[in-house]
Amino acid sequence: MESDRTKWNQRFESEDSFLGERPSPFLVREMERIKRLAPGVKALDIACGEGRNSIFLAQHGFRVTGLDISDVGIAKGIRRADNAGVRVEFRQTDLEGYRICESFDLIINFNFLLRELIPEEVGALTPGGLLLFDTILESPHLLASHNPAYLLGRGELRQIFTAYDGDILFEEEMEQGEMPTSRLMFRKSG
Ligand SMILES: C[S@@+](CC[C@H](N)C(=O)[O-])C[C@H]1O[C@@H](n2cnc3c(N)ncnc32)[C@H](O)[C@@H]1O
Repeated sequence: MESDRTKWNQRFESEDSFLGERPSPFLVREMERIKRLAPGVKALDIACGEGRNSIFLAQHGFRVTGLDISDVGIAKGIRRADNAGVRVEFRQTDLEGYRICESFDLIINFNFLLRELIPEEVGALTPGGLLLFDTILESPHLLASHNPAYLLGRGELRQIFTAYDGDILFEEEMEQGEMPTSRLMFRKSG
C-alpha cells in the first residue's frame, strides 16, 4: 500500500539507522542451527527494512533476496551490503497480495505481520526448508501504541503452524519487556 511506503520511508529517513545495524539477536542465536539444518543456501528476508538481517545471512554464506516496500530502506540496504562486501538482491515489493513464485531453503519474517502471506511463505519453502518468524506479541506490557491488526495473539503462531506439514523446532513467547515478542522456527517436511 502506498501509505505503508510513505510511512516507512519517513521513518527510515528520520534516523541513520531506524532499527539498528545489528542483526536480530534471535537470528544470531540460531545461526548455527540454521546452517546445520537448512537444505540449501537460498534465503528470503520478508520485509527486510534496511537490510540488517539480509546482510547477516549473506555474511554466513546465504544467497539472499530481501523484499520491502520502502525504497529508502532498500537504498540503505544496498549501501550497507556494499560496505559490508556482500551481495544481497534487494527488491522493492509491496507484499500485500504478493505471490512468492520461487522456492527458498530459508525464509525469515521479522517484525512484520501479514497473516495472508504466511501460507505463501510455507508454500515457497523447499522440502526441509526453514521458516523463522519473530514479531510483536499483543500484551498489556506493550509500551508504544501499535495497530492491533499487526500484533500476534498469544498462541497464535503455534496455532497457525501446527496446521502445516512439518515440525515446530522452537517456539517462545516473551510477554515482559518493552517489546513483547512471539518467535517460532518451523521446518517443512522433507
Ligand atoms: C519493523 S520493520 C522490520 C524490518 C526488518 N524485518 C527488521 O527486522 O529489521 C517493518 C518493515 O515492513 C515493511 N513493510 C510495511 N508494509 C509493507 C508492505 N505492504 N510490503 C512490503 N514491506 C512492507 C516496512 O517498509 C519496514 O521495512
